[in-house]
Amino acid sequence: MDGLRGKFLVLDGPDGGGKTTVGRLLARRLTDAGLSVVQCRDPGGTKVGDRIRSVLLDFDLASMDIRCETFLFMASRAQLVTEIIRPALTAGKLVLCDRFISATCAYQAAAGYDFEAILSLGRQAVGTTWPDLTIVLDVPPDVGSVRIHRRPDDSRSGTPPHDATSVTARAKHLDAMERRPREFHDQVRANFLALPGRYPAPVEIVDASAPVEQVLETLWERLKRLHQPNCP
Ligand code: TMP
Repeated sequence: MDGLRGKFLVLDGPDGGGKTTVGRLLARRLTDAGLSVVQCRDPGGTKVGDRIRSVLLDFDLASMDIRCETFLFMASRAQLVTEIIRPALTAGKLVLCDRFISATCAYQAAAGYDFEAILSLGRQAVGTTWPDLTIVLDVPPDVGSVRIHRRPDDSRSGTPPHDATSVTARAKHLDAMERRPREFHDQVRANFLALPGRYPAPVEIVDASAPVEQVLETLWERLKRLHQPNCP
């Protein structure tokens, strides 16, 4: 897997696709293969980015203007690229990032933001630091939704321990995006599936409704074939 040094990989996709679990297992496997791996998440991953993440996801977004929402995602990303991603790539490390501009192309486009305008903002935010490969872990919204509701409450930092008696309390642990309606998530998925060919960097769709070990094998085989240079 030596060819993966200095490569930038992104895992993205609809909520409940298992990015966190797959990302953790993939990072471990890549590290065991001798690579120096830097894992990060978008939005967040830096001090200022984590504060922006909290503004975006811990509150009700209903009153937030879509431009404000989109700019905040881009602002967090600009910081992440400058502070973490670019230095890691320059040092020959493999960067594995949980979401990136591809997510804005799916979620904020589903909320009405123009796709080309998102790409243009993206170029301003990250310059030429686009992923060598974005893997979309695809799940239908019903599967994703079931997985999200099964998620242990402590699977995210800052959430209280699981209380089996309180469905309402558990619902509160859904982030602002997860609380958006079913039609929104159908459109998010359609936008992800339309990315190959539209997004200015390589994107592949992987069926993430399969068992996690199988998803991991598919990703591993794909990564062995990764030779493309960074795309502007
Ligand atoms: P996460 O749960 O995968 O960490 O992502 C947080 C939520 O933010 C998720 O529902 C997707 C959403 N999101 C956007 O709406 N736009 C973006 O650009 C990114 C990166 C995430």
